[in-house]
Amino acid sequence: MKKYCIDLKVNSVERLSEKHVLLRLSSPDGLPEMLPGQFVEVRVDDSPSTFLRRPISINNVDEEAGELWLLVATIGDGTRRLGRLCAGDTLNCLLPLGNGFTMPSSPSDKVLLVGGGVGVAPLLYFGRKIREMGGEPTFLLGARTGSELLELEMFRAVGRVLVTTEDGSLGEQGFVTNHSALQSEHFDFISTCGPKPMMVSVARYAKSHGIECEVSLENLMACGLGACLCCVENTVEGNVCVCKEGPVLNIRKLKWQL
Ligand SMILES: Cc1cc2nc3c(=O)[nH]c(=O)nc-3n(C[C@H](O)[C@H](O)[C@H](O)COP(=O)(O)OP(=O)(O)OC[C@H]3O[C@@H](n4cnc5c(N)ncnc54)[C@H](O)[C@@H]3O)c2cc1C
Ligand code: FES
Repeated sequence: MKKYCIDLKVNSVERLSEKHVLLRLSSPDGLPEMLPGQFVEVRVDDSPSTFLRRPISINNVDEEAGELWLLVATIGDGTRRLGRLCAGDTLNCLLPLGNGFTMPSSPSDKVLLVGGGVGVAPLLYFGRKIREMGGEPTFLLGARTGSELLELEMFRAVGRVLVTTEDGSLGEQGFVTNHSALQSEHFDFISTCGPKPMMVSVARYAKSHGIECEVSLENLMACGLGACLCCVENTVEGNVCVCKEGPVLNIRKLKWQL
């Protein structure tokens, strides 16, 4: 897919929690096609410590409003600067990057999308695309506490939502892999994004139940284009650049101990 380096206008910055913001961006020339699971490399201006672009998932593309949404956890210098953007500012983005999630082969496929923390970000757009093809995705979203569950209403508008929290303040108590639906229901396909231990647990569950599973890796990245090799993952097919061959990979390709 052709890649673009474009200045996007910040339409709004919505604070979703103490540490999360939702940026809505647009371009006067319109946005290029973007696939669920792909990501954007964002330039963070005016800081010597952030000369490398920061990779952020495509959270949603609102085609009607002509907006790209980025859901950002403000954890370090670069993302905190993104959180301080204001409506009217400009954000330079390289997009769309990487390979996205595999779409279900049929709308009747039972697809489970498992997200943890800010890893829920790429699942909203993916779920919307499944919905558009006539399917009904099930989201299984986990966080430490209820207040850290992001975009819940948006997920509910797209599909069925199951929730776990570590403190039990919302949904079932525990980790996503403890949710009772995993014992009582059958799924045809699982896609997941979140902290690595969570993705390993989900992948282990999928493998032991013979379910196809894709994970969206968040290896450290610099160029985002397959040139610097800093995002390499050692797979059964040898070393691959996650920014180019991923970030979404089938668990059959990974050397994780499952
Ligand atoms: C393909 C991809 C998609 C991503 N999508 C999102 C997203 O939608 N929303 C979002 O908020 N973040 C996302 N991330 C993570 C995000 O890129 C990092 O949080 C960001 O680069 C940190 O930059 P910083 O300058 O704020 O922090 P830094 O000062 O660079 O680092 C602060 C801390 O965060 C750690 N860190 C840095 N990069 C990562 C990373 N990739 N994964 C885990 N920890 C990291 C550092 O080791 C350090 O401990 C994604 C990463 C990848 C590779
Ligand atoms: S980030 Fe440079 S090769 Fe992947």
